[in-house]
Formats: sequence, structure tokens, C-alpha cells
Amino acid sequence: MDTSLQNIYTYCEAHTFGPTELLTKVERTTHLKTLAPRMLSGHLQGSFLGMLSMLMKPNFILEIGTFTGYSALSLCKGLSSEGKLITIEYDAEMAALAEVAIQKSAYRNQIQLIIGDAKKVIPTLTETLDMVFIDADKEAYPLYFDLVIDKCRSGALIIADNVLWSGKVAEEIKDKKTAQIDAFNKKILADDRVEQVILPIRDGLSLIRKK
Ligand SMILES: C[S@@+](CC[C@H](N)C(=O)[O-])C[C@H]1O[C@@H](n2cnc3c(N)ncnc32)[C@H](O)[C@@H]1O
Repeated sequence: MDTSLQNIYTYCEAHTFGPTELLTKVERTTHLKTLAPRMLSGHLQGSFLGMLSMLMKPNFILEIGTFTGYSALSLCKGLSSEGKLITIEYDAEMAALAEVAIQKSAYRNQIQLIIGDAKKVIPTLTETLDMVFIDADKEAYPLYFDLVIDKCRSGALIIADNVLWSGKVAEEIKDKKTAQIDAFNKKILADDRVEQVILPIRDGLSLIRKK
């Protein structure tokens, strides 16, 4: 990130609500105990997810890719009192870290962390989805969208992370992973069932609303 953009992010974070004490601890633990702490949503994106959740007031949220739990805890902010969040993580070590944070949170009775491959877990879910956060293996984004779209109610919000892939999607020559993400963005744009807006927050967030 260049210096002026970094300054803008620092300013935005300084003037954005949160993070809670628990989220700050999750971020610190993630830096101490994981090899890729940059995967964590962090303050600005986490607050944005929390704001979207407060606006949506969802009853049911699905998260694909828990990591250490930062985004799951952020997404719970707008959950209705009867609401539930299911988050799926296939790395048992990361899931254990997330579970520690979840148990310390006010949402511990509303979050279900499932350890497993999201591709196998999602087809077993029977709930109607109000919000979905797609943040796992990037090459499977098109599949995740196909697996969740019919489970989403009209007006549901699907959020996909990393859709700019460090800005590489805008480059003419794309490596394999970048091309996959570019193809996902194009697939969503061409799908008449949804409307999409891509925001250059952090690594790019796509907001996809089911009509
Ligand atoms: C970018 S991280 C998630 C970050 C987290 N959502 C946050 O914002 O703090 C992606 C996570 O997805 C997990 N993952 C990758 N492929 C998966 C799969 N097929 N099923 C479930 N989890 C998967 C990885 O182990 C990793 O912890």
C-alpha cells in the first residue's frame, strides 16, 4: 500500500467505531500465533461488516472461512436476539483459536463454529440465509456463490472478500488466482438474480444483494 493510501486508512481507522477489547485481543493473538495474520479482517473492515449487520438486522448469517474469529464476532453486531451465525473453518488449529474468542464473547450462545470443508458443509444447511460472508479459498468463490444463492432470501446480502486481490484484477496480464477472482466478479455481474457493488476497502469487498 502506498504512503498516501496508508495515511487515509490510518485516518479512517482513527475515526471509525470499535474495535471492542475482545477484538483487539483476537488481533493480537492472531499476530502471535498464526503464520498469516494479514488474513484477519481487522478494525476498518470488521467495523464495516458490523455496520452492515446492524443495517441488515439478520436472523441468520453464514460465514465461510472463520480463521481466528475476528469477522464472525464483527458480523454478530446486528444479529437479532434470536439470531444465529454459523461459521465454517477446515483448519482445526485456527478453529480452536476462534472458539476461545467466541466463548469469551456475548454471542457465545449464538455462534456455531463448524470444523470442516465448507463445500461439504453448506449443502447440509437448511436455514434461510439473510447474510453470507465468503472469505475462504478463493478458487471456490463461484461454487460458494452457487451453493448459497438458493438458500438466500430476497434482499439477502452476500459479501465476498479479497475481490481486488491486491489490485491485481485491474492489471492486463493476470496470474491464475487473479484470473479466478476476476472471473468470479464477472460471473456475479452477469447474474440477473443479484446486484453487485465492489468497494475498494482493504483487499476489495463485493456487496451482492439478492433481488
Ligand atoms: C482469509 S481467512 C478468513 C479470515 C476471517 N474471515 C477474518 O476476516 O478474520 C480464510 C480461512 O478460510 C479457511 N478455509 C480455506 N478453505 C476452506 C474450506 N474449503 N472450508 C472451510 N474453511 C476454509 C482457511 O483455513 C482460513 O482460516
